[in-house]
Amino acid sequence: MKLFELQSFNDDGLKMIERGTPSPCLGEVIIKVESASINFRDFMIAKGLYNPNLSLPLIPLSDGSGEVVAVGDDVKNIKVGDRVSSVFWQDWNADVTTRMMSTGCDAAGVLSEYAVLPEAAVLPIPDYMSYQEAATLPCAAVTAWTCIMAANIKAGDNVLLLGTGGVSIFGLQIAKALGANVIITSSSDDKLARAAGLGADTTINYKDNPEWGKQAFEATGRGVNLVIEIGGGGTFNQSMEALTIGGHISIIGALSGVSTELNLLNMVFKNVHTHGITVGTREDHEAMNHFLAEHKIHPVIDKEVSFDQGAEAIIGIASGNHFGKIVVNINS
Ligand SMILES: NC(=O)c1ccc[n+]([C@@H]2O[C@H](COP(=O)([O-])OP(=O)(O)OC[C@H]3O[C@@H](n4cnc5c(N)ncnc54)[C@H](OP(=O)(O)O)[C@@H]3O)[C@@H](O)[C@H]2O)c1
Repeated sequence: MKLFELQSFNDDGLKMIERGTPSPCLGEVIIKVESASINFRDFMIAKGLYNPNLSLPLIPLSDGSGEVVAVGDDVKNIKVGDRVSSVFWQDWNADVTTRMMSTGCDAAGVLSEYAVLPEAAVLPIPDYMSYQEAATLPCAAVTAWTCIMAANIKAGDNVLLLGTGGVSIFGLQIAKALGANVIITSSSDDKLARAAGLGADTTINYKDNPEWGKQAFEATGRGVNLVIEIGGGGTFNQSMEALTIGGHISIIGALSGVSTELNLLNMVFKNVHTHGITVGTREDHEAMNHFLAEHKIHPVIDKEVSFDQGAEAIIGIASGNHFGKIVVNINS
């Protein structure tokens, strides 16, 4: 079988190689991977920015989908022929409070014709979804879902999303399905027009409007109930400006820096809730799948590339040219 391996953090560190097709050990399933999708984290891993001490070589990518073609003797809940996707955290479920193993980082990923995963690291995919669509779910969609659930967003609430990458576009789709009012920012007017086409109520170009947080507050009249904070240091204070009293900031990324100076009294007077989110548990993923199926939400795929373009696509995600998700077709 063909697969990609991250052999070093150098520019040419991602190599396509050939290896024998795997067989399952106890507790494992083998997936014939149809599609995989790229997250910003995969770029950071490839460049050594996520964990410079990561053990290499590594098969990259946390997110993939395909058909189960073999299962270990003791596997109970997954059978040959099942349509499944990977799960981001292999050892985090509602019963445990620690986790160590994420697919495509601490454990082998899915940028491979066949992937070996523990039974606990796969879930059936919603019937109405294609393999390409299901491959986009494990990281970005679960993260958006977990943020929105943590803030208990309901109809009529205001949700602010930063940029038009994978997490924010899933956030838009989920928040609209809940009946929330969505404000979204982008550096591109074309992308904002696409977001409006998906139901965004207010769009703001953050490059043209450095006070976009204040603008989001004014657009809603009372501030937003949730910001999914992907920017970090460079955006946090504007996210604070946007909040209503008692609003939530889900801190998930730091695309514009890992630190900033905070006015803590502003946080006190606004009764701000902040919480860090690291994707979510297996149960979060399952609950999200039910929600997506109930609302027949189709993930937004901006671009599909072939398997041999996998390395290029991982490095290319940092350009931020995409809207929603980028998918790599492997056996499809
Ligand atoms: N903690 C977690 O569980 C978790 C999970 C998933 C992702 N993340 C992190 O969250 C971030 C976003 O992930 P993603 O998968 O959605 O990435 P992505 O698909 O690569 O999206 C990147 C987009 O973010 C927008 N952006 C970049 N800098 C910005 C800024 N200063 N202000 C506003 N928007 C900005 C840009 O949108 P425009 O082109 O529209 O301007 C860019 O296209 C990354 O840092 C990622 O590592 C964390």
